[in-house]
Amino acid sequence: MASLSLPFETKYLPLKKFFNIYRRSMEETEEFWAEEARQLDWFKTWDKVLEWEPPFARWFVGGQLNASYICVDRHVKTWRRSKVAIYWEGEPGDVRVLSYSTLYSEVNRFASLLRRAGVTKGDRVALYLPMIPELPIFMLACARLGAIHTVIFSGFSAQALADRVNDVQAKLLITADGGFRRGKVVPLKEIADEAVALTPSVEKTIVVKRTGISVSMKPSRDLWLDDLLIKAASFIEPEPVESEHPLYILYTSGTTGKPKGIVQSTGGYLVYNYSTYKWVFDLREESVYWCSADVGWVTGHSSIVYAPLAHGAAIVMYEGAPDYPTIDRWWDIIEKYGVTIFYTSPTAIKMFMRYGEDWLKKHNLSSLELLGSVGEAINPEAWLWFYQNIGGERCPIVDTWWQTETGGIMISPAPGIECVPLKPGSATFPLPGVDAAVVNERGEPVAAEERGLLVIKRPWPGMLLGIYGNPERYKKAYWSTFPGMFYTGDYAVRDRDGYFWILGRADEVLKIAGHRMGTAELEDAAVSYSQVAEAAVVSKSHPVKGESIIVFAIPTEGSAPSVSLKKGLSDHMRRVVGPIATPEEIYFVSKLPKTRSGKIMRRVLKAVANDLPIGDLTTLEDETSVEEIVRSYQELEKEREEKK
Ligand code: WT7
Repeated sequence: MASLSLPFETKYLPLKKFFNIYRRSMEETEEFWAEEARQLDWFKTWDKVLEWEPPFARWFVGGQLNASYICVDRHVKTWRRSKVAIYWEGEPGDVRVLSYSTLYSEVNRFASLLRRAGVTKGDRVALYLPMIPELPIFMLACARLGAIHTVIFSGFSAQALADRVNDVQAKLLITADGGFRRGKVVPLKEIADEAVALTPSVEKTIVVKRTGISVSMKPSRDLWLDDLLIKAASFIEPEPVESEHPLYILYTSGTTGKPKGIVQSTGGYLVYNYSTYKWVFDLREESVYWCSADVGWVTGHSSIVYAPLAHGAAIVMYEGAPDYPTIDRWWDIIEKYGVTIFYTSPTAIKMFMRYGEDWLKKHNLSSLELLGSVGEAINPEAWLWFYQNIGGERCPIVDTWWQTETGGIMISPAPGIECVPLKPGSATFPLPGVDAAVVNERGEPVAAEERGLLVIKRPWPGMLLGIYGNPERYKKAYWSTFPGMFYTGDYAVRDRDGYFWILGRADEVLKIAGHRMGTAELEDAAVSYSQVAEAAVVSKSHPVKGESIIVFAIPTEGSAPSVSLKKGLSDHMRRVVGPIATPEEIYFVSKLPKTRSGKIMRRVLKAVANDLPIGDLTTLEDETSVEEIVRSYQELEKEREEKK
């Protein structure tokens, strides 16, 4: 037997196939990725697989391709032209089924109207749309022209939308009259109007009619998609772009400041997602693939749009709330479309666990072959419930660890190659090409079962190109903690079998129902309320959402803490950021615990909110602040108990 040199220990060497591929990816990295890249259609082959000028990586340098050609054109040249590309279901129950040939003609038509609107290669186009087929179609239409799309989650507020549009300086904003959510209409055009008042770069908006609600249209600025489609051309030549040409910019939260625009390449990103999809989801021609995420997050970019469509797979896309109008909406969708691969979040699983199994008994879920989880660590109890009740003890679960920055899945079982024995709660092993390690504060590898920080020790094709317009922030956020290693911001541990267990964020980033929010952003939102002088935000563990938002706020002079002040602040945060920023609890205090240098000790607040030992307070400036916080917390707890 050939000796295996792996960067980690494992007793699962009998899984020769997986570890042999892994080893090859580590030893002959460039040849390995070149072979993978050859599976896509390039207009021009690359001259060099990787140019690594730390911390900037360029993959498949000299190569040219087009993402819309790879996701659509190459399929319509085959029998797949009549294969289903998208099964779409609206929340009210309306259905649209798009074959690859329909998708192809729509992408071309949309690209033609974008071109007519003056969009050219390198332009940024902002998409603020509900989960309707027009969203992936516009993404692919942008890619066809070499334009860079930035999708803004339709749950974000006008301010959050404006911030992102301003950062990318988009000329064009595409939105809808509204979107359906839980039987109500979210007035997206109205929110977009509020945002556009703050975004001087936007010259035109295109509006998709989804709900039929009446909206105000500003004559020289706002255009209905339907009117533009009348004059659309049926074919637009896909623009060959360089491999490292940005495909998209997607905002995510960091520890400090405003959200950062993560820039993804075209070639590296597509190769990485194409390959990892094969490995992780064992995607087959007959697969019906459903990822329940919103396209507004990276999961949706990779797992609804680019990876499955690059494979020519059939996807399911659902517009609305998971449990609307009845709790079994999702199970109904799985049965109706014969979903074979279902990829969702631990929060959703925990929510359905609470509803009980009766809702499942009404549905035949036997089409399912493989399940996936993403966004936060899945606890073993939820893992087992998912395995038993949704997967019928028949489907492996791929617990996939990745980030907006990584572009694609990094640590996960790979049943498409060979499935390692699963351990509920562990994302198992790094995928081929991923040189992951767990290190201590000095960047040295830690021993098995010892907690450390998760790092990636060499570039991979899905690695972000950078932070839009801010190379310094890119260097600082990812490459300054440990020189030469990509810093993920996550704690992790490897067990004695070499399995990776992700333990959550090591920085000031919260994961609320799998959504990423920075404490800085939330604190900015809180202090922008006229009656709040200072605020600190921490998370508290939550049985369904994983974490929830806790605000400690100092009211301004003259504003007394009250129920209405609390409601005012909560509504304000929803308005500034979006409904995902709704605080779970708000405490009014007169001081915040700070170090002598004036830094808020969030650690102390977090301990109080989570009923944990407060720990060392020697660096604290004023101990009475902690006493007050503990007291106000306990009082509230008592009130809550009494109400029960
Ligand atoms: C953060 C990245 C990648 C798609 C969705 C999230 C956490 C993600 C897992 C997992 C434990 C996970 C990490 C990571 N996370 N997947 N399988 N197990 N934690 O993308 O919004 O960029 O968030 O999500 O903390 O750093 P994101």
